[in-house]
Amino acid sequence: MKIAVTGKGGVGKTTLSGTLAFILSRTYKVFAIDADPDMNLASSLGIHTKITPISKMRELIKERTGAEPGSSFGEVFKMNPKISDLPESLSIKYDSNENLRLLVMGTVEKGGEGCICPASVLLKALMRNLILKKDELVILDMEAGIEHLGRRTAEAVDIMIILVEPGLKSLETADRIKKLAADIGINKITCVINKISNKNEEEFVTRKLEEMELNVIGSIPRDEIVIKADMEGKPLISYSESKALKSIEDIAKNILIQIK
Ligand SMILES: Nc1ncnc2c1ncn2[C@@H]1O[C@H](COP(=O)(O)OP(=O)(O)OP(=O)(O)O)[C@@H](O)[C@H]1O
Ligand SMILES: [Mg+2]
Repeated sequence: MKIAVTGKGGVGKTTLSGTLAFILSRTYKVFAIDADPDMNLASSLGIHTKITPISKMRELIKERTGAEPGSSFGEVFKMNPKISDLPESLSIKYDSNENLRLLVMGTVEKGGEGCICPASVLLKALMRNLILKKDELVILDMEAGIEHLGRRTAEAVDIMIILVEPGLKSLETADRIKKLAADIGINKITCVINKISNKNEEEFVTRKLEEMELNVIGSIPRDEIVIKADMEGKPLISYSESKALKSIEDIAKNILIQIK
């Protein structure tokens, strides 16, 4: 099962991805993948050591594709690098949680339209081939632009969650993502409403999403404990009193129902 979390900047993708990863790791072996160029999923999992993203592992990229990252256009490299051993060997393990692994993808320099480079070939192959055993699950923390996913990777996404918050900006982004997702073959899209302060806000967003024909799998209140967790550098899961956490637990249940 692959779950992708996307939405406008700052809407809460990393908080939701990290918290879902923890919750779902009670039932599944979870690979949490940071696919956002501005990587901070590790932080939401309470990991603060410096992590080298896979896109910056020059030796590995060279070994697997036969070319240096950023090599000049026209250089020949393998389009189907061997990657089956990488999810295990490159993922960051938790001392306290055997079921949770983190993979940080990093940024691929965009070199113009249709650009393919060794690093992006490796990342795409890795995402595509994260061949899952039955009890495994992948959660992708993404940027709003999902074009870089590529059709074959996108096809492997089972549920795409678009996060929205009260306000037209994130709703407009959601509409754009919905169209892009349809273009690249992602069929199952659902929304989560985050940062709700009152009934009015929830009704506003719900109505707008209905007009856009987007369904909703859950909503999360605005919660000071989310900010506190971020300041203290600890995962939200450590704050059992958090209302936002409670809502994310419900969302996880709904996801599990949908994917069974
Ligand atoms: N339910 C909530 N209540 C209060 N604050 C929240 C809530 N959800 C997220 N935040 C805060 O909003 C900010 C952005 O959250 P987060 O980093 O998860 O968003 P993001 O979508 O991953 O952002 P980016 O686009 O920069 O990657 C953080 O400061 C976080 O603490
Ligand atoms: Mg983020």
